[in-house]
Amino acid sequence: MRVQVVIVGSGPAGLLLGQLLARAGIETLILERQSRDYVLGRIRAGVIEPGAVGLLEAAGAADRLHREGLVHEGTEIAFQGQRHRIDFKALTGKVVTVYGQTEITHDLMDARDAIGAKTVYEAADVSLHDLTGDAPIVRYRKDGVAHEVSCDYVAGCDGFHGVSRRSIPKDLIRTYERVYPFGWLGVLVDQPPLSHELVYVNHERGFALCSMRSATRSRYYLQCRLEEHVEEWPDDRFYQELTRRLDAEGARNLHPGPSIEKSIAPLRSFVAEPMRHGNLFLAGDSAHIVPPTGAKGLNLAASDVAYLSAALIERYRENSAEGLDGYAAKALARVWKAERFSWQMTTMLHQFPESSGFDRKMQAAELDYLFSSKAAQTALAENYVGLPY
Ligand code: FAD
Ligand code: DHB
Repeated sequence: MRVQVVIVGSGPAGLLLGQLLARAGIETLILERQSRDYVLGRIRAGVIEPGAVGLLEAAGAADRLHREGLVHEGTEIAFQGQRHRIDFKALTGKVVTVYGQTEITHDLMDARDAIGAKTVYEAADVSLHDLTGDAPIVRYRKDGVAHEVSCDYVAGCDGFHGVSRRSIPKDLIRTYERVYPFGWLGVLVDQPPLSHELVYVNHERGFALCSMRSATRSRYYLQCRLEEHVEEWPDDRFYQELTRRLDAEGARNLHPGPSIEKSIAPLRSFVAEPMRHGNLFLAGDSAHIVPPTGAKGLNLAASDVAYLSAALIERYRENSAEGLDGYAAKALARVWKAERFSWQMTTMLHQFPESSGFDRKMQAAELDYLFSSKAAQTALAENYVGLPY
C-alpha cells in the first residue's frame, strides 16, 4: 500500500492534521494503537484557544463546538479566601471556549468518516523505517496480519508514549524535562458548575481547579501526592477536601454528586528537539508535554498542526520544501513560550513540598502583584487565550 502521508496516532493532533490535509486533497492513513471507543473514553483537556477553534473550523469540524461550547470571557483565581477575576475579553479582546477534548475527538472522527479517509484502529507494533530516505516505510500488525505502507512523510502524532519520538536516533535528539512532585486528581460529575467561569485555587492545602464541560457537567481537580491512588479518594472525601480549599462562596455553591470519572495525572514539562528527523515530523504530545495548569496541551498540539499542515500543503501544491524545513524551529518557538507559561502558572498556584518560607512569600507577592497590576493581568490573559500562530 502507498499513501502520501502516514499519521501515527488518532488523538487531536493526528485527527486534525488528517482533516486539514484531506481538505487540501492530500491522502492520509491514520494508524491508532487503541480502539476508537478507548480513544473516545479518555477525559482530558477542556479549554480551547481561539486559534484552535479557527483550525477546527478550517477542518469543517466546529459546528457542534459553536452550538454547545461555552464561551468564557475570563477566569477567576482564588487566594486567601478571595476570588480575583482576570478579564480576557477586556484585556485582549479574545475569549476561550470550554468544550471537551472528547467532543473534539468525536467531531473530528465523524468528519474523517464523512470524507471516507481511512483510520486503522488497534494497529499493533507500529514501526517506522527509512525515515531519512525518499520513501519511508511504516509497518504494523492488524488482527495478527502484518502490513507495510510506503509514503512520502510520516507525522508522529502518537503522544508522549508513542513510537515516533523513539524512532529518532538518541544522538540526534535532545530532551529537556521537569517532573513535578505532585499530580492532579480529577473528577467528572453530572452537576452544575459552582461558578459560570473556571476557578483556579491556590490554597495552603494544595491547588484546586473548578472547571466544567457544560451547564450541567462539572470537572474538578485537586493537587495530590504522586503516591496516591483513586481508590483512596471516595467521592465524599474528594468533595470534603475541595470544600476546604475553596472560598466561602465557592464552597456554598458546590454541587456534589456521584463521580462518573476519576483519575490521577502526573505533572511534567518536557520538550524534545528538533521536532523533525528526515521525513518524520513530530506534532503534539509526542514532542512536548506541559503541566495542565495553563490549559495548553491540546492547544499546542493544534498550533503544531497549523504549521505542519501548511508546510505539507505547500510541499504538494508548490513543490516547495521551505515550510517543512522551517517547521521545527517555528513550532518550537511557540512551544517554549507555552512551556514557560504552563511552568509559571504551575509554580504560582501549587504547594511544593520542598518550598521554604521565602518561596511561599514569593508566591504570595506574585499573586498580590497579579491582582493589582493590569500589566500582569494582561500578560496572563494574552498567554491564556493563546499567543498568535
Ligand atoms: P494524544 O491525545 O496523546 O494522542 C496520541 C494518540 O496516539 C493516542 O490516541 C494513542 O493511543 C496513540 N498512540 C500512542 N502510541 C501509539 C503507537 N505506538 N502506535 C499507534 N498509535 C499510538 N491538557 C489540558 O490542556 N488540560 C487537561 O486537563 C489535560 N489533562 C490530561 C490528562 C491526561 C491523563 C493526559 C495524558 C493529558 C492531559 N492533557 C491535558 C493534555 C492533552 O490531553 C494533550 O496535550 C493532548 O491530548 C495532545 O494531543 P495529541 O494528539 O498530541 O496526543
Ligand atoms: C481543564 C483542564 C485544565 O488543565 C485547565 O487549566 C483548565 C480546564 C479542564 O479539564 O476543564
